[in-house]
Amino acid sequence: MSLPAASRHRLTPDLEICGILNGMWQVSGAHGRIDRDRAVDEMFRYHDAGFTTWDLADHYGPAEDLIGEFRRRFAARHCEGRLGEIQAFTKWVPYPGPMTRPVVEQAVGISLSRMGVDRLDLLQFHWWDYADPRYLDALKHLADLREAGKIRHLALTNFDTEHLHRIIANGIRIVSNQVQYSLVDRRPAVGMAAFCAEHGIALLTYGTVLGGLLSEKYLGRPEPSRADLATASLQKYKQMIDAWGGWALFQELLQALKRVADKHGVGIANIGVRSILDQSAVAGVIIGARLGIVEHLAADARTFAFTLDPADYVAIEPILAKSRDLLALIGDCGAEYR
Ligand SMILES: NC(=O)c1ccc[n+]([C@@H]2O[C@H](COP(=O)([O-])OP(=O)(O)OC[C@H]3O[C@@H](n4cnc5c(N)ncnc54)[C@H](OP(=O)(O)O)[C@@H]3O)[C@@H](O)[C@H]2O)c1
Repeated sequence: MSLPAASRHRLTPDLEICGILNGMWQVSGAHGRIDRDRAVDEMFRYHDAGFTTWDLADHYGPAEDLIGEFRRRFAARHCEGRLGEIQAFTKWVPYPGPMTRPVVEQAVGISLSRMGVDRLDLLQFHWWDYADPRYLDALKHLADLREAGKIRHLALTNFDTEHLHRIIANGIRIVSNQVQYSLVDRRPAVGMAAFCAEHGIALLTYGTVLGGLLSEKYLGRPEPSRADLATASLQKYKQMIDAWGGWALFQELLQALKRVADKHGVGIANIGVRSILDQSAVAGVIIGARLGIVEHLAADARTFAFTLDPADYVAIEPILAKSRDLLALIGDCGAEYR
């Protein structure tokens, strides 16, 4: 299997990614036990299939170490010169505290060493508490480390539109913001996407397939209890569905998506992913990968094999219109973490 050229997206003039990124929260332990050797073997399958871009974080269990091991084995199998084919985007999610140059430099140094790289492709910064303005200190030091060659591109995760604006106003150059975005959670469409499009900032999205809930597996199924949902991801997005409009409305959505999916000869998840990839400012959708446990490579590849037409949106919109306003209920992107 190889992905079509349409699967590639130029995130910056010097950085091309796969439009579906492999999410590594799923190796953290909260989504089933991961065998490290098997996980790294599996990373080769993703890469060889064309899924060359990884999304990880300092706190996703062994994720950064797995990238390090994958790169070592990749260089041994191929050659050092081909390591540039791999894109690995990590995050720094610090506990609030003083954001001095040594604190920031040490955190970046740990990620560099775990991932076995001289420079981070993309560092996505998260901040827990807007009342504490030291996120700006951290970002200024990160920008300095970018100039020093330790970070190629600086990015954010879970920042809302207001604070993204504040960061830009402080002269800090940002490449992307990683946010939850799906047919259920469309908060980014309200203000974030337009702001990003205007400022040349890309959106990388998660939760787009709702932990797997947005699939045939849950079509026609009675409402699962928390105990029925085996991964932290499924539990997280079931809560989002409850806030959005509940299980009965979600079943209506799955039924409509199934009709659209059948028309295109693809799966429900493909419709969910394609619909978000087509939104303004979106550069990539991250899909969680339970490495060595289960994979959906061939199924997810089908996202790049069709296009949605206006009639498809006409079929889905009336159901989405019945949902609650998540922006009013929760707040802008990332508010659920604060
Ligand atoms: N910045 C943040 O705060 C944040 C938060 C959450 C996630 N993330 C990032 O986003 C990534 C994705 O995590 P997520 O929690 O949002 O999960 P997700 O991508 O919504 O769901 C992943 C799950 O979807 C299922 N799936 C994938 N392709 C499918 C297909 N074609 N058909 C049916 N099911 C399919 C798989 O379930 P099975 O394995 O059960 O088959 C997979 O484990 C994370 O790894 C992380 O990198 C970031």
